[in-house]
Amino acid sequence: MSVNRPFYFGTNVKMTHTPEDTRIFLQMLTELGEELPADVRLFYLPPYTSLHLRGCSSLPSSVWLGAQNMHEDEWGAYTGEISAAMLRELGVELVLLGHSERRERYNETDEGVNRKVQAAVANGLKFILCIGETEREKRCGVARETLSRQLKMALHGLAACHLSKVHIAYEPVWAIGEKGSSAPPGHVAKMHAWIRNVLEELYPQESASVPILYGGSVNEQNCAELARTPLVDGLFVGRAVWDAENFRKVLYLSLASRMDKIES
Ligand code: PGA
Repeated sequence: MSVNRPFYFGTNVKMTHTPEDTRIFLQMLTELGEELPADVRLFYLPPYTSLHLRGCSSLPSSVWLGAQNMHEDEWGAYTGEISAAMLRELGVELVLLGHSERRERYNETDEGVNRKVQAAVANGLKFILCIGETEREKRCGVARETLSRQLKMALHGLAACHLSKVHIAYEPVWAIGEKGSSAPPGHVAKMHAWIRNVLEELYPQESASVPILYGGSVNEQNCAELARTPLVDGLFVGRAVWDAENFRKVLYLSLASRMDKIES
């Protein structure tokens, strides 16, 4: 597969990220979007309370503002929940689905993620689908089974004509957050190859363009190697880029490494 594919880079910022923090990020992303090569796509997923600022920004089309979650139903008695149509009305173009923190702490099931996938597509939203094995699943040798199940169940019933909305983030649960440490590039390459095979099994003709990102403790030290790992189409970064300047720094280190790989 060509390394000359679009490169995706973005973050889901923490719960305490305020609208003022979002203003700073949007300003930085607008500048970045204008200076970066056309094949770079950036995404930024702030808390719900910042999404209205989409309307006050002039983000270029290569930068997507997204939500960290949404409810799967169009309407109903769900106090406190946010629907896909509500996101759409704010100008949001992307939504994160199935993050492991939601699967673990809010009991999100594969069936529930599938309903969110259907709702996202019905409302014209692109989505990033997070999949990844736990430490125990890795230890017991069933990581691939987990990835297959999560992928097949989340995408069940999704017509191939909607594949342009789909972005996969491989985020091993053991690699995410303060207690995690990044997956070794060799492991990432193997798992991305597996995910690519499952996508091909599901959509034999059309799946090649679906990007597969890696996430889990990406930082300034390891981003260059991960960005040039085979079959990695982008990086999904947390803590290391919650500060706007660090976002810029880690992005540029990743892009430089990617560029070296294309030239060598
Ligand atoms: P991390 O977060 O980069 O801080 O491990 C990744 C994530 O939240 O998905």
